[in-house]
Amino acid sequence: MSDESRPASEAPHVDDARLPKTEFTRLVGCALPIQQAPVGYPAADPALAAAVAAAGAHGMLAAVRMAAEELSEALDALNSQTRAYGVNLSQAILDQEAFEVAAEKAPLVELYIGEPDPTLIERIHSAGALACRQVISADEARLAQEEGCDLVVARSIEAGGRAKGGVGMIPLLDCVLEAVDLPVVAAGGVGSGRGVAAALAAGAGGVRLGTRFLAAEEARTHPGYLDALLAARTEDTALTEAFSVDGPPSPHRVLRSALEAASVYEGEVVGEMHIFGERRQVRRFSADNPADTATGRIEAMALYAGESVGSVREVQPAGEIVAEVATEAGELLRRLAAG
Ligand SMILES: Cc1cc2nc3c(=O)[nH]c(=O)nc-3n(C[C@H](O)[C@H](O)[C@H](O)COP(=O)(O)O)c2cc1C
Repeated sequence: MSDESRPASEAPHVDDARLPKTEFTRLVGCALPIQQAPVGYPAADPALAAAVAAAGAHGMLAAVRMAAEELSEALDALNSQTRAYGVNLSQAILDQEAFEVAAEKAPLVELYIGEPDPTLIERIHSAGALACRQVISADEARLAQEEGCDLVVARSIEAGGRAKGGVGMIPLLDCVLEAVDLPVVAAGGVGSGRGVAAALAAGAGGVRLGTRFLAAEEARTHPGYLDALLAARTEDTALTEAFSVDGPPSPHRVLRSALEAASVYEGEVVGEMHIFGERRQVRRFSADNPADTATGRIEAMALYAGESVGSVREVQPAGEIVAEVATEAGELLRRLAAG
């Protein structure tokens, strides 16, 4: 097979020996137990997932509120490059048409925020895809297993973005790994090889990195957002419900600088953004995080970031992030095994 015709996920530069194979890598068909998180639309562009997969890891497309037609085109583009990826959808605002497209075209569909619904999982399976749920407790993990999920993502309180709450990663892995007999992907606060090694050593089948990939060259992160991420230290995030003006209050982790800037901003509207086919205003304390099309007071928008933000030190190609993290984690695990 020539390099041009080879699927991206089988690109020859991937060094499979850097990290152990796990039940996660075998299930989803990637070389490395590392996953790029669906870090919102349009930051988690198809180009980001494709680049991550080409480097041997697993990519995720954030498709929450994406129209069915746009999603279909994105999945056609991805399918021509790799099958080592999945689609993330919020069950709370599930567009049935987009869900059908995801189930039919993507190799994996992940649901978050929503009650167990075996009919959704059956539909994903009947279309030939793997079904995944994001969980924040052992009880949720058990329900996901009963519902028929093939794997779960255990999302801890250190994670960037919106969640329902949760606990720290190690106690979460402890109870979820005991509760279910499924591959578990650990998510939250991991931006380096150290965190990946720690989660794998604790028994995770894969480790999800979100905030770190916002600084990938392929991510469509707004430059002002990127500057704030690069300047932030590990301790510079805050768990808040403040950015909930458009809906019911729900917890989320953002850069503390964004919370402070929005708090002192005088005015109803902080800017504008072109998103989901329309130009619309971004209200102060709106949940919308700035896409690359945003204008206005970027520093006062919902700048989601996990406690992993301390590992965001430079803008790099996504493949370089994967290689760096995998190499560092592999060295640590080998050192541990050698005693
Ligand atoms: C900017 C941003 C947007 C996010 N959007 C989503 C999303 O649309 N769906 C989702 O399931 N998780 C979303 N997340 C959470 C990630 O899936 C993941 O749990 C989190 O990034 C892991 O923590 P970390 O950022 O410290 O790596 C988002 C995270 C960030 C930072």
